[in-house]
Amino acid sequence: MGEVCSITKVYRFSAGHRLYLKGISDEENWRIFGKCTNPKGHGHDYYIEVKIRGEIHPETGMVIDIGKLDELMKDVIDELDHKRLDVEVPYFRDFQPSGENIAKYMWSSIKPRLKSGELYHLKLWETQNNYFEYFEEDD
Ligand code: NI
Repeated sequence: MGEVCSITKVYRFSAGHRLYLKGISDEENWRIFGKCTNPKGHGHDYYIEVKIRGEIHPETGMVIDIGKLDELMKDVIDELDHKRLDVEVPYFRDFQPSGENIAKYMWSSIKPRLKSGELYHLKLWETQNNYFEYFEEDD
C-alpha cells in the first residue's frame, strides 16, 4: 500500500453487564472486578470509534462509503444496544463482558462486513476516564 488515509467515525450505545467468575467466592469476584461484579448488574454509555483506512478513491475522494459504514455499524450496535450483555448476547455467556472483550467482539462483527484491510483500529470508551483499543494485524 502506498498512500494511506484513515477516517474515524464515532457511534454510541448503552449496555449493561456484570463481570463475574463462577468458580470463586463473591469476595474474590469483588477483589478482581470491583463494582463491576455487582450482582444486579450496571450499565455504561459506550462510545465506539471505528477507524477505517484505505486509499483515497480517485473519483469520490473518499476512503469508504460512509453510508455503507453507518449501515453495517447499525447492525453491529443493534445486537448490543440496551442489552444486558452477559445475559442476552450469547458470546458474553462464554466470555466476560469486559471492555477488552466487547472491543474484540465488535472487531469480529465489523471485520467480515468490510473489505480486507479496511478495518484498522477500534477504540471503545467505557467511561470518561477509560477506553480500550483493539486491532488485529493484517492476515
Ligand atoms: Ni462496568
